[in-house]
Amino acid sequence: MQTRKLGDQGLVVSAIGYGAMGTATGYGPADDDRSVAAVRRAHDLGTTHFDTAEMYGWGEGEKLLGRALAPVRDEVTIATKFGLTREGGRDSRPDHVRAVVDNSLRHLGTDTIDLLYQHAPDPDVPAEDVAGVVAELVAAGKVRYFGLSNADEDTVRRAHAVHPVSALQEEYSVFAPHDVAPLLPVAEELGIGLVAYSPLARGFLSGAVTSREHYTADDFRQRLAWWSPAHYDANAALAGELAAFAESKGATLAQLALAWLLAQKEYVVPIPGSRDPERVAANIAAEGLDLTARDLVRIAEIVPAGGVGGRRRE
Ligand SMILES: NC(=O)c1ccc[n+]([C@@H]2O[C@H](COP(=O)([O-])OP(=O)(O)OC[C@H]3O[C@@H](n4cnc5c(N)ncnc54)[C@H](OP(=O)(O)O)[C@@H]3O)[C@@H](O)[C@H]2O)c1
Repeated sequence: MQTRKLGDQGLVVSAIGYGAMGTATGYGPADDDRSVAAVRRAHDLGTTHFDTAEMYGWGEGEKLLGRALAPVRDEVTIATKFGLTREGGRDSRPDHVRAVVDNSLRHLGTDTIDLLYQHAPDPDVPAEDVAGVVAELVAAGKVRYFGLSNADEDTVRRAHAVHPVSALQEEYSVFAPHDVAPLLPVAEELGIGLVAYSPLARGFLSGAVTSREHYTADDFRQRLAWWSPAHYDANAALAGELAAFAESKGATLAQLALAWLLAQKEYVVPIPGSRDPERVAANIAAEGLDLTARDLVRIAEIVPAGGVGGRRRE
């Protein structure tokens, strides 16, 4: 697979990464053996970048990913995140970050985290202090590169001034095309890569979407505006139009959605998540789909403003 640079500090990853959230949380029950097979299939097909977080199962997601990648640990880069609490709050106090990183290293079964993100800014901890503790962890050899997720421009600039930020991780997809716009000039100015999370719009652009009543109680999509009764039909119609356009190019909807991201900027790396080895293979094949400028215009005509209702919870 082609590679892309995340930041100016030396981190290079496969153009399409793998998002491991669904293996541990968010999308209903998962079969661990199938998830491990999906991760290994991604690696077999050239994926070298794998994304998880402390809060994906509070250690369980990291353990599964570490187990799946143990035989190939030195061929891949692993990203994880700190800074959320079980109660739904934020905690990036330096002592807490040190403790979370030690736990993540143990759960992943590794001696260094390739890319460590703050999962979301903490209003009680200045960005400079967060960058400071990450710098200390880098100096100690526990972390290689620093990332920020769900961050605004001010946070990015202040953190970057203390320790260079290699990657921003933000929601970015055909259904969520605009929220990231203010960060693109900052990423370019500071030489930071952009990791696109939920690149298939949490599955709405996967080709396997269905209405909210089909999801289990532990599937959080029931609470997202795209799935609300007021918006679902309109979004399904948009996804249908995109799928027809994808088909005219010999591709699937998911492949079109991923190729769209790859075509935005050379420093964008989508990290689709799937617990199914065949779906993983299909997603990786998006790398071979080249979209022309006319294709991008056509996609913007179909979905000019993203998914109806916006990307957040209702
Ligand atoms: N930083 C943050 O705040 C944040 C937030 C959300 C996500 N993330 C990261 O981004 C990654 C990806 O985001 P995401 O998992 O929310 O959403 P996504 O990648 O947009 O979509 C995942 C959903 O699509 C389904 N899917 C994937 N490929 C498919 C295919 N080819 N055909 C049919 N269905 C397919 C998956 O189901 P199956 O698993 O059943 O195939 C899953 O339900 C996460 O795993 C996580 O690492 C980060």
